Amino acid sequence: MEEKEREEKIRRLTEEIKQLKRERRAVILSHVYQRPEVQEVADYVGDSLGLSQQAAKTDAEVIVFCGVHFMAESAAILSPDKIVLLPEIKAGCPMADMVTVEDLRETKKEIPGAIVVCYVNTSAAVKAESDVCCTSANAVKVVSSLPKDRPILFIPDQNLGRYVAKKTGRDLILWGGYCSTHDRLTREEVLEAKKAHPGALVLVHPECRPEVVELADAVASTTGMIRYARESEAREFIIGTEEGILHQFRKQCPGKSFYLASPKLICPNMKATTLEKVHRSLLTLEPRVTVPPEIREGALRALARMLELS
Ligand code: 13P
Ligand code: SF4
Repeated sequence: MEEKEREEKIRRLTEEIKQLKRERRAVILSHVYQRPEVQEVADYVGDSLGLSQQAAKTDAEVIVFCGVHFMAESAAILSPDKIVLLPEIKAGCPMADMVTVEDLRETKKEIPGAIVVCYVNTSAAVKAESDVCCTSANAVKVVSSLPKDRPILFIPDQNLGRYVAKKTGRDLILWGGYCSTHDRLTREEVLEAKKAHPGALVLVHPECRPEVVELADAVASTTGMIRYARESEAREFIIGTEEGILHQFRKQCPGKSFYLASPKLICPNMKATTLEKVHRSLLTLEPRVTVPPEIREGALRALARMLELS
């Protein structure tokens, strides 16, 4: 499609989505890894923690979640009386699929007395089997708050787990999961980017490998990285997270330059939501994400405990 034609289509869809949003009394929540035009139509753009907080407090009747499945599930857990829509129902998270409830139950039997800390990137059923949730923004705080006399099982992200263990000085039993997007970034790529941009600071997400995290000037959640770049006196930054964040960097930090550490930093699941799908979803009020009450109860306990600490 011609660039002009595409722009016109985006403009028309954006208008129609805004109109439908009012009619449906809907709120649109978008993760920062979404396509720029999807972020632009959202009422709130943020990281997993911010999105959960918004989902918990909204008074809208419909939540359109532009993100991946576990995020929409969290919204359905926190706001069970709302209609929660995930415009592309197949948008999952490969890391969340790396821990099943059956495997978790088996592992818990092997570590009696363990406290299970689950990254928010997990299914509702896995959350229900855990003690407390965390996101990349509060994982250090959550783990630091736990009693020192019990083993801690951290699921499923081994990279985030290693980072949190180092920051808190706590021994964590790690699961073998990882983010298939962040884990692709290599130390060599970051070193190359540093050579190409010697004055730039390196900002990375804790889902990156430890040898990449070691090279960073700052390690933070996506919202944390944006805040850091906004407040920093530096003018150039090498970015170790999914490329969708560049849209917010450019909007919120005019005059500063951002270089993606690797062209591989694209999450196909995050890119599966399009404006067309958001539009269709508001028209049809489908596809919906729901959580059965028996799972919701346990998952809410773990999420609420995290939100109390945040
Ligand atoms: P945050 O937005 O919490 O930093 O998480 C990153 C992520 O990979 C979400 O899928
Ligand atoms: Fe999952 Fe990684 Fe994609 Fe986030 S970026 S949805 S953790 S695969």
